[in-house]
Amino acid sequence: YIFLTLINIYLSMSEKYKVIFIVGPPGVGKNTQCDKLVEKYKFVHFGAGDLLRAESKKDTEDGKLVNSLISQGKIVPVKITCGLIKKAMDESGKDKIFLIDGYPRNQENIDGWNEVFGDNYKLVTSIILGCDEAALEKRLLERAKSSGRSDDKSEVIKKRFKVYVEQSQPIEAKLKQMGPFIEVQATGSIDEVFGKITAELDEKLKQ
Ligand code: C5P
Ligand code: MG
Repeated sequence: YIFLTLINIYLSMSEKYKVIFIVGPPGVGKNTQCDKLVEKYKFVHFGAGDLLRAESKKDTEDGKLVNSLISQGKIVPVKITCGLIKKAMDESGKDKIFLIDGYPRNQENIDGWNEVFGDNYKLVTSIILGCDEAALEKRLLERAKSSGRSDDKSEVIKKRFKVYVEQSQPIEAKLKQMGPFIEVQATGSIDEVFGKITAELDEKLKQ
């Protein structure tokens, strides 16, 4: 019995976290596509932005810092973000495929991830969504009417685009080197975009 327990502990330690990153500019529809992906594939979905927004409501040092950075459209220190993601993953158990949206957002996000996970994870694929800025701004301003998000305001939206172009877009090339990837222009309807993603994802999941 002790032997079996030890084997089980060993297996759970050696099992890798299975991960899918989904990235793209603000307003590209990451959340919308994630909802549909979760429905179809039963992935466990964590939005980095969602985890941070929850953290920002806490009356703690971290909470206050996160709240201030989000409302300026700035990127939160990776120690906080990656810590929240890891905690959420560990609470779900390793046997799932984790769909992590809005991460990594900059080089620090990648370095912090590598520090925490090392080679203890398998990148099933990255999903990289693209769209032109004019269409995105229109979508975000539409969303602003009901999202209640402190950063869905015209001036913060501009700032978030700037951060995306300067920090997030360059690391898409790094993601492509880290493992398999799917690159989709998210300009059509929700279902069109979903169709393009799933066509490639089905292949990746077989490998
Ligand atoms: O992905 P989402 O648009 O929900 O992110 C909202 C905000 O959360 C970002 O503008 C940024 O301030 C913060 N964030 C971050 N690091 C991430 C993801 C989100 O700092 N990896
Ligand atoms: Mg989101």
